[in-house]
Amino acid sequence: MYSSKISGVGHYVPENVVTNDDLSKVMETNDAWIQERTGIKERRHIKEGDGNNTSVMGAKASKMAMQRAGVTPQDIDLIIFATLSPDMYFPGGGVQLQELLQMNTVPALDVRNQCSGFVYSLSVADQFIKTGMYKNVLVVGSENHSGGLDFTSRGRSVSVIFGDGAGAVVVSRNHRETGGILSTHLHSEGKHKDELALQGPSTGHWVPELLANNPQEDIPYFPYMNGPFVFKHAVVRFSEVIQEGLLANNINSEDIDMLIPHQANLRISQFIQKKMQLPDSKVFNNIQKYGNTTAASIPIALSEAWEQGKIKEGDLVVLAAFGSGFTWGSAIIRW
Ligand code: UT7
Repeated sequence: MYSSKISGVGHYVPENVVTNDDLSKVMETNDAWIQERTGIKERRHIKEGDGNNTSVMGAKASKMAMQRAGVTPQDIDLIIFATLSPDMYFPGGGVQLQELLQMNTVPALDVRNQCSGFVYSLSVADQFIKTGMYKNVLVVGSENHSGGLDFTSRGRSVSVIFGDGAGAVVVSRNHRETGGILSTHLHSEGKHKDELALQGPSTGHWVPELLANNPQEDIPYFPYMNGPFVFKHAVVRFSEVIQEGLLANNINSEDIDMLIPHQANLRISQFIQKKMQLPDSKVFNNIQKYGNTTAASIPIALSEAWEQGKIKEGDLVVLAAFGSGFTWGSAIIRW
């Protein structure tokens, strides 16, 4: 059996910076509340006319990841595209990325696992490499949240948190004897599906039905999040799934060189850090600059941590995510 490794990382965020003060001009919120509850100072939003959408940002991040991996689009055997904010209802972002990168007839798979989308996608890529079926898999997480949030005071508990951006990695066959992606661990619990969801428009909540049955202001085409409920589950599941990964590899938390949690909320990351007794130098956070970019958050953070020299060959890197579904997962990597 083969093993896989991350051979290149890349990211892209739109240039347009939206600060907490900018948001407080359009809704009842303030910098102090947002920073205190989430740690977020600013996020990026696509700006009309900047040419970005979910697949375009994904393509930009992918180019950087492929260049750093030393591969071309022609070397890629499979695209896995994770997003909750695709440009179209169907087809998914994977085929759009394939067209943008002119990748012949390479297969494209879309993953809809929200904040855990990247960890799930990485796990799928790992399996394809392990069987020997593929040598290079492009895994992309990209989100255009600003296109679908309620920027009135009604939506403030959700819309201040999320930001736009994309991250990508190339997962390749590992030619070393050891290391690479050591294991991935995935879970879901659908009974909590309504606690963080965007219900419609969908076949279950179609537009004419929505318009007929809801007062205009209650039409559920904006995301709903039961924040405190999600928070409580997140801190438990993050810790559990990291422990599961450590146990599976017979290692303990002191062995971790870098933990990159999905950037859901700085308070969640800090809670996990404290529980695992990790020093600041071993946990990477950039939610302060970008907000929560769901499927894009881990690959953006990975790419930035790598650029800053915080991930080096031989390091033990742990990724973990939790989000809508609920779904959650972790990946244990020897870089
Ligand atoms: O990435 C996927 C997973 N997502 C998460 O993990 C998110 C988990 N949840 C959270 O991060 C937090 O629950 C939030 C940051 C979303 C909210 O923080 P909270 O401390 O749980 O606040 P809350 O929802 O209990 O709201 C507290 C108060 C409420 O006012 P009252 O009822 O106490 O008067 C809200 O109406 O804060 C109010 N509020 C705001 N005030 C100013 C809610 N949003 C805002 C806002 N600005 N943007």
